[in-house]
Amino acid sequence: MHRQDSPMKVSTNQAGILLALVVAVCAGCGTTPPASFRANLVEATKQRLTPDQERQVATILLAMFGTPDDPVALPETGLDEAKLKLCAGPVRSDIVGRKNGLYREHCAHCHGISGDGMGPTAAFLNPYPRDYRPGVFKFKSTERADKPTHGDLVRILHNGIPGTSMPSFALLSAVQVEALVEYVKYLSIRGETELALVRQYFELDDDAQGKLPETREFLVDEVLTPIAERWNGAADARIAVPEMPADIDMMASIAKGRELFYGDKANCVKCHGVTALGDGQANDYDDWNKAIVEWRKEVGGDKDSDWVSKANRVLAGDALRPRTIPPRNLRHGIYRGGRRPLDLYYRIHAGINGAPMPAAKGTVDPQDIWHIVNYIRSLPYEFDGELGVDRPMVAKDRF
Ligand code: HEC
Ligand code: HEC
Repeated sequence: MHRQDSPMKVSTNQAGILLALVVAVCAGCGTTPPASFRANLVEATKQRLTPDQERQVATILLAMFGTPDDPVALPETGLDEAKLKLCAGPVRSDIVGRKNGLYREHCAHCHGISGDGMGPTAAFLNPYPRDYRPGVFKFKSTERADKPTHGDLVRILHNGIPGTSMPSFALLSAVQVEALVEYVKYLSIRGETELALVRQYFELDDDAQGKLPETREFLVDEVLTPIAERWNGAADARIAVPEMPADIDMMASIAKGRELFYGDKANCVKCHGVTALGDGQANDYDDWNKAIVEWRKEVGGDKDSDWVSKANRVLAGDALRPRTIPPRNLRHGIYRGGRRPLDLYYRIHAGINGAPMPAAKGTVDPQDIWHIVNYIRSLPYEFDGELGVDRPMVAKDRF
Protein backbone atom coordinates (compact mmCIF):
# COMPACT_ATOMS: atom_id res chain seq x y z
CA MET A 1 0.00 0.00 0.00
CA HIS A 2 2.69 2.31 1.11
CA ARG A 3 4.61 1.59 -2.09
CA GLN A 4 1.74 2.67 -4.29
CA ASP A 5 1.24 5.88 -2.36
CA SER A 6 4.61 7.39 -2.88
CA PRO A 7 4.59 7.84 -6.68
CA MET A 8 1.28 9.71 -6.33
CA LYS A 9 2.81 11.99 -3.74
CA VAL A 10 5.78 12.81 -5.91
CA SER A 11 3.67 13.72 -8.90
CA THR A 12 1.45 16.03 -6.82
CA ASN A 13 4.58 17.75 -5.62
CA GLN A 14 5.91 18.02 -9.16
CA ALA A 15 2.65 19.54 -10.34
CA GLY A 16 2.88 22.06 -7.53
CA ILE A 17 6.40 23.03 -8.49
CA LEU A 18 5.45 23.30 -12.16
CA LEU A 19 2.48 25.52 -11.33
CA ALA A 20 4.67 27.77 -9.21
CA LEU A 21 7.15 28.01 -12.09
CA VAL A 22 4.47 28.91 -14.63
CA VAL A 23 3.10 31.61 -12.31
CA ALA A 24 6.60 32.99 -11.71
CA VAL A 25 7.44 33.10 -15.42
CA CYS A 26 4.13 34.71 -16.39
CA ALA A 27 4.45 37.37 -13.73
CA GLY A 28 7.29 38.70 -15.91
CA CYS A 29 5.36 38.30 -19.19
CA GLY A 30 5.10 41.49 -21.22
CA THR A 31 7.24 43.58 -18.92
CA THR A 32 11.00 44.06 -18.92
CA PRO A 33 12.42 44.35 -15.42
CA PRO A 34 14.08 47.75 -14.90
CA ALA A 35 17.85 47.61 -15.37
CA SER A 36 20.21 48.93 -12.75
CA PHE A 37 23.88 49.88 -12.72
CA ARG A 38 26.23 47.49 -10.90
CA ALA A 39 28.33 49.03 -8.15
CA ASN A 40 32.12 49.04 -8.54
CA LEU A 41 32.47 46.45 -5.79
CA VAL A 42 36.17 45.84 -6.41
CA GLU A 43 36.98 49.46 -5.56
CA ALA A 44 34.43 49.69 -2.71
CA THR A 45 35.86 46.56 -1.09
CA LYS A 46 39.45 47.67 -1.72
CA GLN A 47 38.67 50.93 0.09
CA ARG A 48 36.88 48.95 2.85
CA LEU A 49 33.58 50.79 2.59
CA THR A 50 30.85 49.78 5.05
CA PRO A 51 27.46 48.62 3.66
CA ASP A 52 26.04 52.04 4.65
CA GLN A 53 28.77 53.80 2.69
CA GLU A 54 28.16 51.57 -0.35
CA ARG A 55 24.47 52.54 -0.14
CA GLN A 56 25.36 56.22 0.08
CA VAL A 57 27.46 56.01 -3.10
CA ALA A 58 24.59 54.26 -4.91
CA THR A 59 22.07 56.91 -3.79
CA ILE A 60 24.31 59.80 -4.85
CA LEU A 61 24.99 58.22 -8.26
CA LEU A 62 21.29 57.59 -8.81
CA ALA A 63 20.53 61.27 -8.18
CA MET A 64 23.40 62.48 -10.40
CA PHE A 65 23.18 60.02 -13.31
CA GLY A 66 19.80 58.26 -13.19
CA THR A 67 19.44 54.63 -14.31
CA PRO A 68 20.30 52.63 -17.45
CA ASP A 69 16.65 53.06 -18.52
CA ASP A 70 16.34 56.72 -17.57
CA PRO A 71 19.66 58.58 -17.73
CA VAL A 72 20.17 62.06 -16.27
CA ALA A 73 22.69 64.53 -17.72
CA LEU A 74 23.49 67.34 -15.28
CA PRO A 75 24.40 70.53 -17.23
CA GLU A 76 27.94 70.45 -15.74
CA THR A 77 28.68 67.21 -17.64
CA GLY A 78 28.08 68.94 -20.97
CA LEU A 79 26.28 65.75 -22.09
CA ASP A 80 23.21 65.86 -24.36
CA GLU A 81 20.38 64.03 -22.60
CA ALA A 82 18.38 63.51 -25.82
CA LYS A 83 21.30 61.56 -27.31
CA LEU A 84 21.64 59.49 -24.14
CA LYS A 85 17.95 58.58 -24.28
CA LEU A 86 18.37 57.17 -27.78
CA CYS A 87 20.94 54.70 -26.42
CA ALA A 88 19.43 53.97 -22.99
CA GLY A 89 16.74 51.47 -22.08
CA PRO A 90 15.68 48.21 -23.70
CA VAL A 91 15.81 47.80 -27.49
CA ARG A 92 12.59 49.20 -28.99
CA SER A 93 11.20 51.50 -31.69
CA ASP A 94 9.19 54.64 -30.97
CA ILE A 95 6.13 55.98 -32.84
CA VAL A 96 8.17 57.39 -35.70
CA GLY A 97 9.88 54.03 -36.11
CA ARG A 98 13.15 55.30 -34.68
CA LYS A 99 15.36 52.67 -32.98
CA ASN A 100 15.98 53.14 -29.26
CA GLY A 101 18.10 51.22 -26.78
CA LEU A 102 21.14 51.35 -29.09
CA TYR A 103 23.68 50.62 -26.35
CA ARG A 104 21.92 47.48 -25.24
CA GLU A 105 21.45 46.35 -28.84
CA HIS A 106 25.04 46.86 -29.98
CA CYS A 107 27.42 47.16 -27.03
CA ALA A 108 26.15 45.84 -23.69
CA HIS A 109 26.79 42.13 -24.35
CA CYS A 110 30.50 42.96 -24.39
CA HIS A 111 30.92 46.23 -22.46
CA GLY A 112 28.21 45.51 -19.86
CA ILE A 113 25.16 47.61 -18.98
CA SER A 114 27.31 49.62 -16.56
CA GLY A 115 30.24 50.00 -18.99
CA ASP A 116 32.35 47.83 -16.68
CA GLY A 117 33.64 45.70 -19.57
CA MET A 118 31.94 42.66 -18.07
CA GLY A 119 29.04 41.87 -20.36
CA PRO A 120 28.05 38.20 -20.76
CA THR A 121 30.51 37.56 -23.62
CA ALA A 122 33.45 39.40 -22.03
CA ALA A 123 35.07 36.41 -20.31
CA PHE A 124 35.49 34.65 -23.67
CA LEU A 125 37.31 37.53 -25.35
CA ASN A 126 40.99 38.46 -25.48
CA PRO A 127 41.66 41.31 -25.05
CA TYR A 128 38.71 41.97 -22.76
CA PRO A 129 36.23 44.69 -23.79
CA ARG A 130 37.10 48.12 -22.42
CA ASP A 131 35.95 48.88 -18.88
CA TYR A 132 35.07 52.57 -19.32
CA ARG A 133 34.83 53.33 -15.59
CA PRO A 134 38.42 54.49 -14.99
CA GLY A 135 38.03 56.86 -17.98
CA VAL A 136 41.16 55.48 -19.65
CA PHE A 137 41.21 55.01 -23.44
CA LYS A 138 43.98 53.62 -25.60
CA PHE A 139 43.66 54.69 -29.22
CA LYS A 140 43.39 58.44 -29.60
CA SER A 141 44.98 61.60 -30.98
CA THR A 142 45.61 63.29 -27.62
CA GLU A 143 48.56 63.27 -25.22
CA ARG A 144 48.95 60.07 -23.22
CA ALA A 145 46.98 60.86 -20.06
CA ASP A 146 44.29 62.95 -21.77
CA LYS A 147 40.78 61.93 -22.80
CA PRO A 148 40.01 60.94 -26.38
CA THR A 149 38.36 63.63 -28.50
CA HIS A 150 34.84 63.20 -29.77
CA GLY A 151 36.33 62.51 -33.22
CA ASP A 152 38.60 59.76 -31.80
CA LEU A 153 35.60 57.86 -30.45
CA VAL A 154 33.67 58.32 -33.71
CA ARG A 155 36.66 56.81 -35.54
CA ILE A 156 36.77 53.84 -33.17
CA LEU A 157 33.10 53.15 -33.81
CA HIS A 158 33.53 53.48 -37.58
CA ASN A 159 36.63 51.30 -37.86
CA GLY A 160 36.27 49.00 -34.86
CA ILE A 161 39.57 47.81 -33.38
CA PRO A 162 41.30 45.55 -35.94
CA GLY A 163 42.77 42.37 -34.47
CA THR A 164 40.27 42.34 -31.58
CA SER A 165 36.60 41.43 -31.23
CA MET A 166 35.56 45.12 -31.19
CA PRO A 167 33.46 45.39 -34.39
CA SER A 168 33.01 48.24 -36.85
CA PHE A 169 29.72 50.13 -36.64
CA ALA A 170 30.12 51.84 -40.01
CA LEU A 171 26.62 50.70 -41.01
CA LEU A 172 24.90 52.75 -38.30
CA SER A 173 23.69 56.24 -39.18
CA ALA A 174 25.75 59.28 -38.19
CA VAL A 175 23.03 60.24 -35.67
CA GLN A 176 23.25 56.81 -34.03
CA VAL A 177 27.07 56.88 -33.87
CA GLU A 178 26.98 60.38 -32.32
CA ALA A 179 24.52 59.14 -29.71
CA LEU A 180 26.63 56.07 -28.87
CA VAL A 181 29.76 58.21 -28.44
CA GLU A 182 27.78 60.42 -26.05
CA TYR A 183 26.69 57.33 -24.14
CA VAL A 184 30.27 56.03 -23.81
CA LYS A 185 31.25 59.43 -22.34
CA TYR A 186 28.25 59.25 -19.98
CA LEU A 187 29.22 55.79 -18.68
CA SER A 188 32.81 56.91 -18.35
CA ILE A 189 32.02 60.14 -16.46
CA ARG A 190 29.63 58.17 -14.22
CA GLY A 191 32.31 55.51 -13.54
CA GLU A 192 34.98 58.11 -12.83
CA THR A 193 32.61 59.92 -10.45
CA GLU A 194 31.93 56.65 -8.62
CA LEU A 195 35.66 55.97 -8.27
CA ALA A 196 36.27 59.51 -7.00
CA LEU A 197 33.47 59.18 -4.41
CA VAL A 198 34.57 55.76 -3.18
CA ARG A 199 38.13 57.04 -2.73
CA GLN A 200 36.99 60.05 -0.67
CA TYR A 201 35.82 58.11 2.41
CA PHE A 202 39.23 57.51 3.93
CA GLU A 203 39.91 61.25 3.80
CA LEU A 204 36.90 62.11 5.97
CA ASP A 205 37.58 63.48 9.43
CA ASP A 206 35.91 62.08 12.55
CA ASP A 207 33.00 64.51 12.78
CA ALA A 208 31.81 63.46 9.29
CA GLN A 209 30.81 60.12 10.92
CA GLY A 210 31.77 58.14 7.85
CA LYS A 211 29.41 60.02 5.51
CA LEU A 212 30.30 62.11 2.48
CA PRO A 213 28.72 65.58 2.43
CA GLU A 214 25.72 65.60 0.09
CA THR A 215 26.06 69.23 -0.88
CA ARG A 216 26.13 70.68 -4.37
CA GLU A 217 29.53 72.26 -3.67
CA PHE A 218 31.07 68.90 -2.89
CA LEU A 219 29.30 66.62 -5.35
CA VAL A 220 29.10 68.88 -8.38
CA ASP A 221 31.78 71.54 -7.98
CA GLU A 222 34.46 69.46 -6.32
CA VAL A 223 33.92 65.96 -7.75
CA LEU A 224 31.97 66.08 -11.02
CA THR A 225 33.12 69.32 -12.66
CA PRO A 226 36.86 68.53 -12.84
CA ILE A 227 36.08 65.12 -14.39
CA ALA A 228 33.73 66.62 -16.99
CA GLU A 229 36.18 69.44 -17.79
CA ARG A 230 38.86 66.94 -18.78
CA TRP A 231 36.43 65.41 -21.29
CA ASN A 232 35.30 68.73 -22.62
CA GLY A 233 38.89 70.00 -22.94
CA ALA A 234 40.18 66.92 -24.82
CA ALA A 235 40.43 68.74 -28.17
CA ASP A 236 43.02 71.12 -26.64
CA ALA A 237 45.27 68.17 -25.76
CA ARG A 238 45.74 67.00 -29.37
CA ILE A 239 49.26 65.86 -30.23
CA ALA A 240 51.16 68.39 -32.38
CA VAL A 241 52.46 66.38 -35.32
CA PRO A 242 55.26 67.87 -37.47
CA GLU A 243 54.77 67.29 -41.19
CA MET A 244 56.72 64.47 -42.78
CA PRO A 245 58.94 66.17 -45.43
CA ALA A 246 57.39 65.52 -48.86
CA ASP A 247 60.82 64.82 -50.43
CA ILE A 248 61.90 62.34 -47.75
CA ASP A 249 64.36 59.65 -48.91
CA MET A 250 62.31 56.61 -47.87
CA MET A 251 65.14 54.05 -47.78
CA ALA A 252 67.33 56.37 -45.66
CA SER A 253 64.37 57.11 -43.37
CA ILE A 254 63.65 53.39 -42.85
CA ALA A 255 67.34 52.76 -42.05
CA LYS A 256 67.29 55.62 -39.51
CA GLY A 257 64.06 54.25 -38.02
CA ARG A 258 65.60 50.80 -37.64
CA GLU A 259 68.57 52.30 -35.81
CA LEU A 260 66.24 54.08 -33.40
CA PHE A 261 64.11 50.92 -32.92
CA TYR A 262 67.16 48.96 -31.74
CA GLY A 263 68.86 51.92 -30.03
CA ASP A 264 68.98 52.68 -26.30
CA LYS A 265 66.80 55.79 -26.42
CA ALA A 266 63.61 54.41 -27.98
CA ASN A 267 64.41 50.83 -27.00
CA CYS A 268 61.44 49.35 -28.86
CA VAL A 269 63.39 46.10 -29.07
CA LYS A 270 63.01 45.54 -25.32
CA CYS A 271 59.36 44.53 -25.74
CA HIS A 272 58.78 43.98 -29.44
CA GLY A 273 61.82 41.71 -29.54
CA VAL A 274 64.87 41.45 -31.80
CA THR A 275 62.63 39.91 -34.42
CA ALA A 276 59.81 42.49 -33.94
CA LEU A 277 57.43 39.56 -33.53
CA GLY A 278 56.35 40.87 -30.14
CA ASP A 279 58.39 38.28 -28.28
CA GLY A 280 60.42 40.57 -26.03
CA GLN A 281 59.18 41.27 -22.52
CA ALA A 282 55.71 39.76 -22.79
CA ASN A 283 54.62 39.11 -19.21
CA ASP A 284 53.18 42.53 -18.34
CA TYR A 285 49.54 43.58 -17.83
CA ASP A 286 47.53 46.58 -18.87
CA ASP A 287 46.21 48.84 -16.09
CA TRP A 288 42.81 47.13 -15.74
CA ASN A 289 44.32 43.66 -15.34
CA LYS A 290 47.25 44.93 -13.27
CA ALA A 291 44.83 46.44 -10.73
CA ILE A 292 43.29 42.99 -10.20
CA VAL A 293 46.68 41.22 -10.04
CA GLU A 294 47.85 43.67 -7.39
CA TRP A 295 44.64 43.50 -5.38
CA ARG A 296 44.77 39.68 -5.40
CA LYS A 297 48.22 39.93 -3.81
CA GLU A 298 46.93 42.41 -1.20
CA VAL A 299 43.98 40.13 -0.31
CA GLY A 300 46.32 37.12 -0.10
CA GLY A 301 48.48 38.87 2.49
CA ASP A 302 45.64 40.21 4.68
CA LYS A 303 44.82 38.84 8.13
CA ASP A 304 41.22 40.12 8.55
CA SER A 305 39.35 36.95 7.65
CA ASP A 306 35.90 38.62 7.24
CA TRP A 307 37.29 41.12 4.80
CA VAL A 308 39.32 38.47 2.98
CA SER A 309 36.28 36.26 2.40
CA LYS A 310 34.28 39.26 1.12
CA ALA A 311 37.18 40.30 -1.11
CA ASN A 312 37.47 36.77 -2.50
CA ARG A 313 33.74 36.74 -3.29
CA VAL A 314 34.10 40.06 -5.10
CA LEU A 315 37.16 38.81 -7.02
CA ALA A 316 35.21 35.73 -8.12
CA GLY A 317 32.01 37.55 -9.11
CA ASP A 318 33.02 41.08 -10.11
CA ALA A 319 36.42 40.78 -11.76
CA LEU A 320 37.70 38.94 -14.82
CA ARG A 321 40.68 36.59 -14.60
CA PRO A 322 43.77 38.76 -15.27
CA ARG A 323 45.38 38.40 -18.69
CA THR A 324 48.76 39.66 -19.89
CA ILE A 325 49.01 42.08 -22.81
CA PRO A 326 51.66 40.90 -25.27
CA PRO A 327 53.56 43.58 -27.21
CA ARG A 328 52.27 43.72 -30.78
CA ASN A 329 53.73 41.48 -33.48
CA LEU A 330 54.86 44.25 -35.82
CA ARG A 331 55.25 41.95 -38.84
CA HIS A 332 51.51 41.42 -39.26
CA GLY A 333 50.67 44.99 -40.21
CA ILE A 334 47.50 44.91 -38.08
CA TYR A 335 47.23 48.01 -35.92
CA ARG A 336 44.47 48.34 -33.36
CA GLY A 337 44.57 52.11 -33.32
CA GLY A 338 44.48 52.49 -37.12
CA ARG A 339 46.93 51.91 -39.99
CA ARG A 340 47.45 55.47 -41.28
CA PRO A 341 51.03 56.76 -40.80
CA LEU A 342 49.44 59.45 -38.62
CA ASP A 343 47.87 56.80 -36.33
CA LEU A 344 51.28 55.15 -35.87
CA TYR A 345 52.79 58.56 -35.15
CA TYR A 346 50.25 59.10 -32.33
CA ARG A 347 50.91 55.59 -30.92
CA ILE A 348 54.69 56.05 -30.84
CA HIS A 349 54.65 59.68 -29.63
CA ALA A 350 52.24 59.10 -26.73
CA GLY A 351 52.59 55.36 -26.20
CA ILE A 352 49.39 53.46 -25.41
CA ASN A 353 47.54 54.88 -22.42
CA GLY A 354 46.72 52.19 -19.87
CA ALA A 355 49.20 49.74 -21.45
CA PRO A 356 52.94 49.13 -20.85
CA MET A 357 53.81 50.66 -24.26
CA PRO A 358 55.71 53.88 -23.26
CA ALA A 359 55.71 57.30 -24.92
CA ALA A 360 58.65 58.19 -27.17
CA LYS A 361 57.86 61.86 -26.50
CA GLY A 362 60.78 63.47 -24.72
CA THR A 363 63.27 60.73 -25.65
CA VAL A 364 62.96 60.79 -29.45
CA ASP A 365 63.01 64.01 -31.51
CA PRO A 366 59.47 64.70 -32.90
CA GLN A 367 60.73 64.65 -36.51
CA ASP A 368 62.60 61.37 -35.92
CA ILE A 369 59.36 59.66 -34.88
CA TRP A 370 58.47 59.72 -38.60
CA HIS A 371 61.55 57.57 -39.31
CA ILE A 372 60.33 55.01 -36.77
CA VAL A 373 56.85 55.11 -38.37
CA ASN A 374 58.41 54.40 -41.76
CA TYR A 375 60.46 51.53 -40.37
CA ILE A 376 57.40 50.01 -38.63
CA ARG A 377 55.45 50.27 -41.89
CA SER A 378 58.23 48.44 -43.76
CA LEU A 379 58.37 45.51 -41.30
CA PRO A 380 55.52 43.38 -42.73
CA TYR A 381 57.31 43.46 -46.11
CA GLU A 382 60.85 42.73 -44.90
CA PHE A 383 62.19 39.36 -46.16
CA ASP A 384 63.78 36.99 -43.66
CA GLY A 385 67.01 37.31 -45.66
CA GLU A 386 67.06 41.02 -44.91
CA LEU A 387 66.84 40.57 -41.16
CA GLY A 388 70.60 40.92 -40.78
CA VAL A 389 73.34 38.56 -39.75
CA ASP A 390 73.14 39.32 -36.05
CA ARG A 391 69.44 38.46 -35.81
CA PRO A 392 67.92 34.97 -36.00
CA MET A 393 65.75 33.81 -38.89
CA VAL A 394 62.12 33.91 -37.85
CA ALA A 395 58.83 32.19 -38.54
CA LYS A 396 56.65 35.15 -39.46
CA ASP A 397 53.38 33.49 -38.48
CA ARG A 398 54.25 32.62 -34.93
CA PHE A 399 51.57 34.85 -33.35
C1 HEC B 1 32.10 41.66 -29.49
C2 HEC B 1 32.45 42.51 -28.38
C3 HEC B 1 32.31 44.01 -28.52
C4 HEC B 1 31.22 44.73 -28.90
C5 HEC B 1 29.86 44.21 -29.36
C6 HEC B 1 31.57 46.11 -28.74
N1 HEC B 1 32.87 46.22 -28.32
FE1 HEC B 1 33.85 47.94 -27.91
N2 HEC B 1 35.53 46.88 -27.46
C7 HEC B 1 35.62 45.52 -27.47
C8 HEC B 1 36.97 45.13 -27.10
C9 HEC B 1 37.50 43.70 -27.00
C10 HEC B 1 37.69 46.31 -26.87
C11 HEC B 1 39.15 46.46 -26.41
C12 HEC B 1 40.13 46.36 -27.53
C13 HEC B 1 41.55 46.63 -27.06
O1 HEC B 1 41.77 46.92 -25.90
O2 HEC B 1 42.47 46.58 -27.90
C14 HEC B 1 36.74 47.41 -27.09
C15 HEC B 1 37.07 48.76 -26.94
C16 HEC B 1 36.17 49.79 -27.09
C17 HEC B 1 36.48 51.19 -26.86
C18 HEC B 1 37.80 51.73 -26.38
C19 HEC B 1 38.67 52.33 -27.43
C20 HEC B 1 39.96 52.89 -26.86
O3 HEC B 1 40.54 53.76 -27.50
O4 HEC B 1 40.40 52.50 -25.78
C21 HEC B 1 35.32 51.89 -27.08
C22 HEC B 1 35.12 53.38 -26.95
C23 HEC B 1 34.31 50.94 -27.47
N3 HEC B 1 34.86 49.67 -27.48
C24 HEC B 1 33.00 51.28 -27.74
C25 HEC B 1 32.03 50.36 -28.14
C26 HEC B 1 30.67 50.73 -28.44
C27 HEC B 1 30.08 52.12 -28.31
C28 HEC B 1 30.03 49.59 -28.81
C29 HEC B 1 28.61 49.45 -29.31
C30 HEC B 1 28.20 50.33 -30.38
C31 HEC B 1 31.00 48.50 -28.71
N4 HEC B 1 32.18 49.01 -28.30
C32 HEC B 1 30.72 47.17 -28.99
C33 HEC B 1 34.62 44.61 -27.76
C34 HEC B 1 33.35 44.95 -28.17
C1 HEC C 1 57.57 48.26 -22.26
C2 HEC C 1 57.25 47.53 -23.43
C3 HEC C 1 57.14 48.27 -24.76
C4 HEC C 1 58.06 49.11 -25.35
C5 HEC C 1 59.41 49.58 -24.81
C6 HEC C 1 57.51 49.47 -26.63
N1 HEC C 1 56.29 48.87 -26.81
FE1 HEC C 1 55.11 49.02 -28.44
N2 HEC C 1 53.67 47.91 -27.50
C7 HEC C 1 53.80 47.33 -26.27
C8 HEC C 1 52.57 46.67 -25.92
C9 HEC C 1 52.29 45.89 -24.65
C10 HEC C 1 51.67 46.89 -27.00
C11 HEC C 1 50.22 46.44 -27.08
C12 HEC C 1 49.36 47.41 -26.27
C13 HEC C 1 47.87 47.25 -26.43
O1 HEC C 1 47.40 46.72 -27.41
O2 HEC C 1 47.20 47.71 -25.52
C14 HEC C 1 52.41 47.67 -27.98
C15 HEC C 1 51.90 48.07 -29.20
C16 HEC C 1 52.64 48.71 -30.19
C17 HEC C 1 52.13 49.02 -31.51
C18 HEC C 1 50.77 48.68 -32.06
C19 HEC C 1 49.85 49.89 -32.15
C20 HEC C 1 48.49 49.52 -32.66
O3 HEC C 1 47.77 50.44 -33.09
O4 HEC C 1 48.12 48.35 -32.65
C21 HEC C 1 53.15 49.63 -32.19
C22 HEC C 1 53.14 50.13 -33.63
C23 HEC C 1 54.28 49.72 -31.28
N3 HEC C 1 53.92 49.14 -30.07
C24 HEC C 1 55.49 50.29 -31.62
C25 HEC C 1 56.50 50.51 -30.70
C26 HEC C 1 57.68 51.30 -30.97
C27 HEC C 1 57.99 51.92 -32.31
C28 HEC C 1 58.42 51.35 -29.83
C29 HEC C 1 59.68 52.10 -29.56
C30 HEC C 1 59.64 53.53 -29.81
C31 HEC C 1 57.70 50.55 -28.83
N4 HEC C 1 56.54 50.09 -29.39
C32 HEC C 1 58.13 50.34 -27.53
C33 HEC C 1 54.91 47.36 -25.46
C34 HEC C 1 56.04 48.13 -25.69
